[in-house]
Amino acid sequence: MRYQAGRHFLQIPGPTNVPDRVLRAIDMPTMDHRGPEFQALALEVLEGLKEVFQTREPVVIYPASGTGAWEAALVNTLSPGERVLMFETGQFATLWKKMADRLGLKTEFIATDWRRGADAAQLEERLLADTGHEIKAVAVVHNETSTGVTSRIPPLRAAIDRARHPALLLVDTVSSLGSIEYRHDDWGVDVTVAGSQKGLMLPPGLSFNAVSAKARTAARQAKLPRSYWSWEEMQASNTQGWFPYTPATNLLYGLREALAMLREEGLQNVFLRHRRHGEATRRAVRAWGLEVLCLVPEEYSNTLTAVLTPPDHDADHLRRIILERFNMSLGTGLGKLAGRVFRIGHLGDFNDLTLIGTLGGVEMGLATAGIPHRRAGVQAAMDSLTEPASMAGERRAA
Ligand SMILES: Cc1ncc(COP(=O)(O)O)c(C=O)c1O
Repeated sequence: MRYQAGRHFLQIPGPTNVPDRVLRAIDMPTMDHRGPEFQALALEVLEGLKEVFQTREPVVIYPASGTGAWEAALVNTLSPGERVLMFETGQFATLWKKMADRLGLKTEFIATDWRRGADAAQLEERLLADTGHEIKAVAVVHNETSTGVTSRIPPLRAAIDRARHPALLLVDTVSSLGSIEYRHDDWGVDVTVAGSQKGLMLPPGLSFNAVSAKARTAARQAKLPRSYWSWEEMQASNTQGWFPYTPATNLLYGLREALAMLREEGLQNVFLRHRRHGEATRRAVRAWGLEVLCLVPEEYSNTLTAVLTPPDHDADHLRRIILERFNMSLGTGLGKLAGRVFRIGHLGDFNDLTLIGTLGGVEMGLATAGIPHRRAGVQAAMDSLTEPASMAGERRAA
């Protein structure tokens, strides 16, 4: 491959750009994971993570991608043949459901058109009908990375409570944690699944489970086979700052730095920043005359926007042109959205000028690919970012 001057624009919805501070923190000699320096690091990050999950409960760290943490959430809490209710919000929900099927669980999949989130009324109706309490868990993807739709968790929790149903609530926050408001404790979530490579601004390789007391109790009865993913040994070791097997030591240096950065900016400011960039991106898409895939304004994702291309224009052709001409990677359409959407990631280590550069690349790409549009998206985004209300929000103190 020919050298391309200037920095590659990695604007897929994760893995995200890793800030220099985090890269430098990772760039350390390998350490003894049974020594005192590691112990102090582990205790610090295990405690610090709780702030990001907004929990007082333990958080488990796996040397694994998000898929591992999905599996951990299921195998620690459930037994073979037990029923799990899931929502088909998009490709990631579909993959999690397939995993549950493969593990020997009985899944029920509530369909959507992939343009909206999980529906609380449907959940309540289904749980009320389950008078024998056969459904043991409800599993939801908070931010569906394939569609750019954020399901609202508090109404789902309220639906479970109104139905007086004892099912556990399992939530995937792989592409929302550390970017979009999320409260493990206040929202009554039993297991939160997350990964390192998106809002936490780390390379791929770590994933997490935040675990409620109710989920820890369920784990004592759960019969699905588990070894590597077992919370029990992990939590027993973690309380002393150890791991039952070799942890991803250098990524934990990076995690410590990323947690410090989120704390310095202030989590609420991080959420606000993502809101501003989500809003400006959507205004750009409308100004181009294109369509945002998400149909429900209250469910717009602030970490990514999936954009529909006109029917006879292949979104992957546009992505290819943008990569070749402007050295920028955008997210591809996944599953049944292949070729129909491209996804703009606006999460992680990302600011106003990163957004304008990103949207500039898309606008030039649309012109180069001959996709009919108005050349007004970048201007609309700049107008959005410089509105007095948007600027005022940005200046809020950490
Ligand atoms: C919402 C969501 N869940 C789960 C996953 C799977 O995580 P991983 O690819 O890290 O295994 C992803 C990956 O992008 C995701 O976006």
